[in-house]
Amino acid sequence: MTDLATEYLGLRLKSPIVASAGPLTGDVRSIVELERAGVAAVVLPSLFEEQIEHETAEVERLYTLHNDSFGEAVSFLPEVGVDDDCVSAYVSHIERVKEQVDVPVIASLNGTNIGGWLRYAQVLEDAGADAIELNLYSVAADPHIRGAEIEAEHLELVAVLAGEVRIPIAVKISPSYSSVASFVVGLEAAGAGGVVMFNRFYLPDLDLETLEVRPRLALSNSGDVQLPLRWAGILREHLTMSIACSSGVHSGFDVAKLVLAGADVAMTTSALLRHGADHVATIEQQLRSWMSDHDYASVTEMRGAVSRAGAADPAAYERANYIGNLAAYTNSFRGADSIGPARGTARPA
Ligand SMILES: Cc1cc2nc3c(=O)[nH]c(=O)nc-3n(C[C@H](O)[C@H](O)[C@H](O)COP(=O)(O)O)c2cc1C
Repeated sequence: MTDLATEYLGLRLKSPIVASAGPLTGDVRSIVELERAGVAAVVLPSLFEEQIEHETAEVERLYTLHNDSFGEAVSFLPEVGVDDDCVSAYVSHIERVKEQVDVPVIASLNGTNIGGWLRYAQVLEDAGADAIELNLYSVAADPHIRGAEIEAEHLELVAVLAGEVRIPIAVKISPSYSSVASFVVGLEAAGAGGVVMFNRFYLPDLDLETLEVRPRLALSNSGDVQLPLRWAGILREHLTMSIACSSGVHSGFDVAKLVLAGADVAMTTSALLRHGADHVATIEQQLRSWMSDHDYASVTEMRGAVSRAGAADPAAYERANYIGNLAAYTNSFRGADSIGPARGTARPA
């Protein structure tokens, strides 16, 4: 019998299959169905600070006064109540989910200022969440703010929260940092228990009739798994904290790839929206059958077996195969006078 057990954020999970934040995890009945289908943990949809109507003006004022350093600002935080409708609905969702299922429940938070992050992280912890996922979803659209400033601010935020909250913290990031590797290593140094790679950016579209800019949400496909796969493979040897991969996990084969690259868990939303909560059982079955066909007895044994450090061709995770890949594709279109990389121009790293 294959052993699917894994560890994530210090929590013992029965398998690496986790339901990421999305509509299904916002509904208690769907979470019960996910657990029945075998999910190992659930991440609740994010509590978005913008949704919370009644900002505590006092907190804002204090943070404006003391925003030189988040660390110093913490000591000025006033007591917070759970008096906002949005927050209390989230808290009661955590409580109801915790009553109904045994799998770990990870709350998710998307904040806009340090006061809000801290305030609500503590509320989620008190509500019984087993861990918190910080959803660092923001678009760096201000050309006057340098990337390094944004990254330093995010790292300081994580350090402050990790110092204040007792439950483990995972940080969910986008792939848009100038150096994903350096930023993720910084997250571990700041006290994060894990990283979730990656959130999907939902992009605007233009309606050519009305000339309105409209967001359009597109679900992922299995091929999208290659992005987190690359970063799990590259980062595994540099991290002791947990790695969760999100984006493009549609089958047990996707889970197998991510675990081999170095992930501790693989998270899925789009596939569950397409096929329903029961699809978790299919993913698990596919993972088990791949493992037994390839003589892997446990997920622990698989984890990182083909990470950058373990792969036969470590450079394949980086740029080196760039030319080779282009050449392989271009050759089928090649005429006598064509330019572009030809087969055989790829060099080993
Ligand atoms: C309808 C929908 C709602 C989502 N809501 C959240 C959310 O509240 N917080 C969050 O961090 N991610 C949210 N996500 C992102 C997913 O958790 C996940 O990271 C992303 O969809 C990539 O995974 P997938 O390829 O399995 O869909 C949402 C995704 C979808 C499709």
